[in-house]
Amino acid sequence: MSYLTDPWKLAWRGLDVDSLDRTESSFALSNGHIGLRGTLEEGEPRGLPGTYLNGFYEEHQLPYGEGGYGYPEAGQTVVNVTDGKIIRLLVEDEPLDMRYGRALSHERVLDFRSGTLRRETEWESPTGRRVTVRTERLVSFTQRAVAAIHYEIEPADDIQLVVQSDLLANEPIEQRSGDPRVAAALDNPLVADFAVADGSRAVLAHHTRKSGLRMAAAMDHTVDTKDNLRTNIHAEEDLARFTVAVDVPRGGRLRLTKYLGYGWSANRSVPALRAQVEAALDGALQTGWEGLLAEQRAFLDRFWAAADVEVDGDERVQQAIRFALFHVLQAGARGETRAIAGKGLTGPGYDGHAFWDSEIFVLPLLTYTVPEAARDALRWRHSTLDKARERARQLGQRGAAFPWRSINGAECSAYWPAGTAAFHVSGDVAYATAQYVAATGDEEFDRECGTEILVETARLWMALGHHDPHDGFRIDGVTGPDEYSAVVDNNVYTNLIAQKNLREAAAACGRQPDLARRLEVTGEELSEWAKAADRMAIPYDRKLEVHEQAEGFTAHAEWDFANTPESGYPLLLNYPYFDLYRKQVIKQADLVLAMHLRGDAFSPEEKARNFAYYEARTVRDSSLSAGTQAVLAAEIGHLDLAYSYLLEAAFTDLDDLHSNSRNGLHMASLAGAWTAMVAGFGGMRDHDGRLSFAPRTPPALNRFSFRMRLRETCFCVTVDRESATYRVVAGPPLHTSHHGEAIVVEPGAEVTLPIPPAPEPPKVSQPEGREPRGRG
Ligand code: BGC
Repeated sequence: MSYLTDPWKLAWRGLDVDSLDRTESSFALSNGHIGLRGTLEEGEPRGLPGTYLNGFYEEHQLPYGEGGYGYPEAGQTVVNVTDGKIIRLLVEDEPLDMRYGRALSHERVLDFRSGTLRRETEWESPTGRRVTVRTERLVSFTQRAVAAIHYEIEPADDIQLVVQSDLLANEPIEQRSGDPRVAAALDNPLVADFAVADGSRAVLAHHTRKSGLRMAAAMDHTVDTKDNLRTNIHAEEDLARFTVAVDVPRGGRLRLTKYLGYGWSANRSVPALRAQVEAALDGALQTGWEGLLAEQRAFLDRFWAAADVEVDGDERVQQAIRFALFHVLQAGARGETRAIAGKGLTGPGYDGHAFWDSEIFVLPLLTYTVPEAARDALRWRHSTLDKARERARQLGQRGAAFPWRSINGAECSAYWPAGTAAFHVSGDVAYATAQYVAATGDEEFDRECGTEILVETARLWMALGHHDPHDGFRIDGVTGPDEYSAVVDNNVYTNLIAQKNLREAAAACGRQPDLARRLEVTGEELSEWAKAADRMAIPYDRKLEVHEQAEGFTAHAEWDFANTPESGYPLLLNYPYFDLYRKQVIKQADLVLAMHLRGDAFSPEEKARNFAYYEARTVRDSSLSAGTQAVLAAEIGHLDLAYSYLLEAAFTDLDDLHSNSRNGLHMASLAGAWTAMVAGFGGMRDHDGRLSFAPRTPPALNRFSFRMRLRETCFCVTVDRESATYRVVAGPPLHTSHHGEAIVVEPGAEVTLPIPPAPEPPKVSQPEGREPRGRG
């Protein structure tokens, strides 16, 4: 079974118990603060229930066979908090459970414009009683602490119905962590502090044992029926239940709206949290269900007006791209100084950690469509600067070393070759910071956060690198994006991102001289940054005429792809790291990513040769790769190949290409689908803070268009086979370029320009069996 195709919705018809866990990820609702997986209201059958609050985690010890200096001690894991989604229904005395009786029809629909998850089920109980249940739920974009569920039952005959609406903490779930320490930390993770119930409202407050974070969840209800009803509410430590019993005649209906309020804090007291969630409920009740729907719709109308991507020629791709945009929006919309995790708030995968995924893959999309969300995610990084400074100090460096994976800003990676040594993450944070400031001109952010991030990360490179009389400024012993190489010298990606970091830090100090003084940046330091950036070592193999991903890479033995069976992938689970590390096999775009983000550092000929070389050695065991390969394939002229990579990025979750969507959606890959369209086929680049386009339509499409924001301007680019049209949707004129030609697009006056023929690219191939995977 699979999803039904619709340009603005994702729908699933019928109940497929085995697919529940992955559809729960796709049907997850979130606003970046609260995340509700798409479990059925009645709680069962279920795949993997989950309710998350961004930043709310439990701590546990990290496992080490052998210790070492500077290893992080504490791990962090996202907690499944109090579940407010549950609404159980008894039809006469039979619980609605779709594994029993007969589901005459059952459909769930995630609507990208209303921002709600709808469900309609016609069910016949084992004794032949029929009801139709219609539900709609939302996690509010406008009222950050609020979620709501509208629940309607229509019986086919006179019937007695009992509805039980719950808040359930410490929900028993199967723990899938291989590490007993994590499993123990997550077994009954919440300790009850407080429970109260009155009227139709209840509040439960809990805290975690080790991280000491406190949370509260509250629910309130309105019930709408013409019939006599009896209600009851009670609360105990881990359960609050509001019950409605009513006799509904044939043709009648019972409608119930459940309002949920969530809050957490490391500092605030239980009474303060209670007050906060109750206030959230009062606000939501005041707005009412219809009001919440209207606000949600208006929020999304604004989003789509500035972010939509339209695809003419492939309906499933159209759906997949809007699905991707919707979920990336959900991950970041109201995070407000919290991280955007690798899975957003759609599942427990990666323990709920945020990675460089956020700055390099997710934030570009947000920066150009919902810049406030990008700003807030960068403010989270800024709020962790003290921890990053401390980590740099601990590692004997200067400046700030941001963690490889984290929830609260402290490093949680227990594997230092792909964690601590992946210093590029600090350059990635700097990259996203500079990109955001250039795209928005947000001076306040630049003053309060941006410049400080840029300066402290620049200092890290100066401490990590050194000048060599022959090679220039070397950065040795680091791990680049490709995790099948580790602790290498002069990784081109890292060095180019460091080079940009150093230059952007200097530029920021030029913009903010007072701040630079406060940060004790001296003239001497500025000239050291400039010298290091100018002399940055970029290894190049003159014989092969390609860049070396890192020094010596092209001299390594080749991987024996011909004798690697399909079942050998992902390689990290089937071959030892030592062997991966010493061979020319690439997990994910690394040099190719450098050619995207720092395309200004390569000539077109170098890009074509490098792409062909690395394409033949990249296995894409990470979902982060396909979007980037699409971008370079498109630039080089491989439009069909770029399209296949777009499909792989766009369908990673919808087709569950990595067989792990049950643990949550891959935010970087979803964002990668946008990147493949906008930076791939749209040819969007923003080197040196200037936006440029070089669009080309792939043969599989008739035309496509995309919308973006740049400073005060919202604009649309429409591309067909022959030409591209630029149009200002709102705001002042747009200054950009089209295939190298500078253009100014005035509001009200479209600019249409021809598309030059694509270059003739050299032939490329992938490792055997690793061709892009597209559509199931
Ligand atoms: C990738 C990393 C990525 C992480 C989280 C790993 O498989 O290699 O680059 O940050 O997943 O998505």
